[in-house]
Amino acid sequence: MKKVVLSVAVLIVVAVVGGWLFIRNMGMGGMMGGNMPSNKMNGNESSENVRNENFSEEEKPLPIPPLLKDENPDPSKSEFSLTAQQSTMEFIKGKKTETFGYNGDYLGPVIRVKKGEDVSIKIKNKLAEATTVHWHGLEVDGEQDGGPHNGIKPGTTWNPQFKIEQSAATLWYHPHLLHETGEHVYKGLAGLFYIDDEVSEKLDIPKEYGVNDVPLIIQDKQMDDEGQFDYDLSMHDTMMGLQGDTILVNGAINPYLEVPKGLMRLRLLNGSNARIYEFSLNNDQEFFQIASDGGLLEKPVKVNKLVLSPAERAEILVDFSSFKDGEVVELTDQGTAFMKFIVKGKKEEKVTMPDKLAAIPRIDPSNSVRTREFVFQGMGRNVNINGKQMDMDRIDEELKLNDTEIWEITNDTGMGMMGGMGHPFHAHGVQFQILDRDGKAPPDNEKGWKDTILVYPDEKVRVIATFNKKGLFMYHCHILEHEDVGMMGQFQVE
Ligand code: C2O
Ligand code: CU
Ligand code: CU
Repeated sequence: MKKVVLSVAVLIVVAVVGGWLFIRNMGMGGMMGGNMPSNKMNGNESSENVRNENFSEEEKPLPIPPLLKDENPDPSKSEFSLTAQQSTMEFIKGKKTETFGYNGDYLGPVIRVKKGEDVSIKIKNKLAEATTVHWHGLEVDGEQDGGPHNGIKPGTTWNPQFKIEQSAATLWYHPHLLHETGEHVYKGLAGLFYIDDEVSEKLDIPKEYGVNDVPLIIQDKQMDDEGQFDYDLSMHDTMMGLQGDTILVNGAINPYLEVPKGLMRLRLLNGSNARIYEFSLNNDQEFFQIASDGGLLEKPVKVNKLVLSPAERAEILVDFSSFKDGEVVELTDQGTAFMKFIVKGKKEEKVTMPDKLAAIPRIDPSNSVRTREFVFQGMGRNVNINGKQMDMDRIDEELKLNDTEIWEITNDTGMGMMGGMGHPFHAHGVQFQILDRDGKAPPDNEKGWKDTILVYPDEKVRVIATFNKKGLFMYHCHILEHEDVGMMGQFQVE
């Protein structure tokens, strides 16, 4: 009996060490520490390859994406035009990077609408290939959602129309073509989608677009010697998602932004393919999170660090009133600075922080008609959900319109000593509330509406939602290389 136990133990040791050596020899040592910010994993290496200082010779002012013009004079209606096109952009002086953009060279304009409005958007595809435009976080029917079934062929126009029925929020739009999402986003197709409502308009918070209410689209890129975006995925890229060595904000490397001496509202979007950030200010100053993915929180939440996984958004308020004219504060990812704020102004500003933001009606778990389970599994090209990879012809989950359900998302990609990876779970057409993480209440800044939820290795997160929109929708990991390889499924609401 003892002999059997001993030989089993020997076999396990051989298998584990052998597996570790195999991975190390494959040159995938970087993944051993997982993709999580340091406070969640020890031996973290996720920011090891960020070297923004290499590009710091040149400082540029932060580009502010333009607000897209509403072509309909009727205040209850909005009409917009977007064109997906090919272009070039000089991210590094003297190097023309080939890019994609909406109405411009890189990224897209901010689409801004009001709750209650009827919206029509004409999207022309001037690319040489098909694409789609998905409204991430927007509650619209499947046909308007812009998922992989809503392909726009080159030279054609797609015209989704919908009514805005959800609360004020910072959402975004990006392509979603099957297997191509990662490359299209990486080349520059992404933009913000703002919703205002009476609550957000009445609040005493900074609201002047581009002045004290500024979007920050944060992305990491890898450029080759010619300055081109390199989207040739190595095995490591497929496994961990493509992570670049340079962080860009609104398409600029190491930009600066002059900020008024007072309260500043920053709308952060992690528009990266795969990188998980842990944001903080270099002086470790505290700031206030006022909104999550789907809108305003109930009250400002004081933090000095903020983790955002791909596709997550956060609105924060930073108090610059105690700084002198010309003083600099840097925004960092785990200590690596990638943009700076230069405080401008001499007069003493009185800063007030609202103590209430928006009412968030809690969804009562006893209203849930069922609990569905989603399990992230596998690694590399085998990443999947519930053992299945994406099939456009297969509907994985069927729901009834207006039902409330609990979704239980488990990250089972941990491979023993390898630590596993965090995967951001996202579902279309709906906003969730997090019930618990491993049975514990979520942190205060996750008590609002969420459409993308980072699930840590070995963690189980329970979320609840009422599904008010009909049609076919996607759920997937928002590490785009995982999504593209098949870590995605379809749910139908009828
Ligand atoms: Cu941000 Cu399925 O998308
Ligand atoms: Cu989405
Ligand atoms: Cu993933």
